[in-house]
Amino acid sequence: MVKKQNGVVGVEVKAKEVHHMGILGAGTMGGGIAYVAADKGIEVRMKDVNYDAIGKGLKHARDLWFKEMKRKRINKYELQQKMDRVTGTIDYSGFQTLDVVVEAIVEDMEIKKKVIAETAKNMRPDAIIATNTSSLSVTEMAQGHPRPEYFAGMHFFNPVHKMPLVEVIRGEKTNDETIATIFELSKRIGKMPVVVRDGPGFLVNRLLLPYMGEAAFLLQEGMEIAKVDRAFVKTFGMPMGPFALMDEVGLDVCVKVLKIFKKSFGARIEMASCMDKLEKSGRLGKKNGKGFYHYDATGKRLDVDTSVYADLGLSSPTSPLTDKECLERGVFAMVNECALALVEDRIVETPHEVDLAMIMGTGFPPFRGGLLKYADSIGTQYIVDQLEVYAAKSAARLKPSTPLRNMAKTQRKFYAN
Ligand SMILES: NC(=O)c1ccc[n+]([C@@H]2O[C@H](COP(=O)([O-])OP(=O)(O)OC[C@H]3O[C@@H](n4cnc5c(N)ncnc54)[C@H](O)[C@@H]3O)[C@@H](O)[C@H]2O)c1
Repeated sequence: MVKKQNGVVGVEVKAKEVHHMGILGAGTMGGGIAYVAADKGIEVRMKDVNYDAIGKGLKHARDLWFKEMKRKRINKYELQQKMDRVTGTIDYSGFQTLDVVVEAIVEDMEIKKKVIAETAKNMRPDAIIATNTSSLSVTEMAQGHPRPEYFAGMHFFNPVHKMPLVEVIRGEKTNDETIATIFELSKRIGKMPVVVRDGPGFLVNRLLLPYMGEAAFLLQEGMEIAKVDRAFVKTFGMPMGPFALMDEVGLDVCVKVLKIFKKSFGARIEMASCMDKLEKSGRLGKKNGKGFYHYDATGKRLDVDTSVYADLGLSSPTSPLTDKECLERGVFAMVNECALALVEDRIVETPHEVDLAMIMGTGFPPFRGGLLKYADSIGTQYIVDQLEVYAAKSAARLKPSTPLRNMAKTQRKFYAN
């Protein structure tokens, strides 16, 4: 259920119609976005720096439709029709007709700002540009746009064709019509939009980072990778454990984003020192077939690559902690961060949006109702008490946050606020 029909509270605002969409960057995300948009009837113009890159983006979309055809979900004619909706370019030809452009180029603020300025010059003044950045400030990036009210974030998750969530990010100057348009567009291409305020990691990545970061501490404390992942999957119900997730995201990306978070949030974000050795060990995760796990040539995850312990300077794991402690430290780290994101920073407005985003964006076990329904079911007092125990034993990062402590003191639940 999407609470607000257009993503904007309290004002009547109409979304603009989107018939033609542009995509900057035909990489992993750009190719996926082209697929979901053209699949739902939108004309897509994909721009990259050379035709090789365009070819890869087109192939990505074509391969997905080809699979659909093999499964007899679409026929040959429909496949061709869908493919015909995607065109490629290495200049701005055709950009005057575009209603919305989604930027999915390299994750670099200065390059993005420059490309956004250039793109805006080649589009109609009322056209919208939305960035798919996963870690940069939308408000700062909007400085590249001559009309920042027409600029927002449209954060897809990887793989785009499978992950239903889109975070619609409101920068400081984004206007209501832009939010309503990106919100509607997300729904039209089959996604579940959640409007979030700008801030490091927006909502989902902000909550996932402490979870993955905590797993690295468990590893450093002697836990076995397979045992931890198994507990999160088999006992808690996550679609994959934190180590498999880090491999999916990319280990270089995890380390980079943890460092960005540390800069923004200070002491409560800590990185286990063993993570520093990941880079040297040449492990990037699934994308180079070398991570916490082994992968076959098709990218299928195999067993744990046990040489990782020595590579990270760790002795053979003895698994000294209980599954209960591992699960609580991982999940409560998310709840703790969420109290700050929701109550202090108002990244989203309601606990319902948090739960929706966590289920749709991370596969948080739906039978638990979402992160905050789960937190309410076990009680904030219990979570605060356990975090105190773990903080005393481990480190300051697990200290219960002020809003969580206040909720426990006054016996409030997330859903009662
Ligand atoms: N990969 C993910 O899991 C993921 C998830 C969510 C968001 N994102 C974000 O999406 C964006 C793209 O990520 P990706 O993984 O698809 O990267 P990628 O490296 O697969 O693709 C980037 C593409 O952009 C092209 N490019 C670079 N400069 C360009 C320019 N000036 N004009 C046009 N094209 C240009 C490159 O040639 C490349 O084809 C980044 O901002 C990233 O943070 C990535």
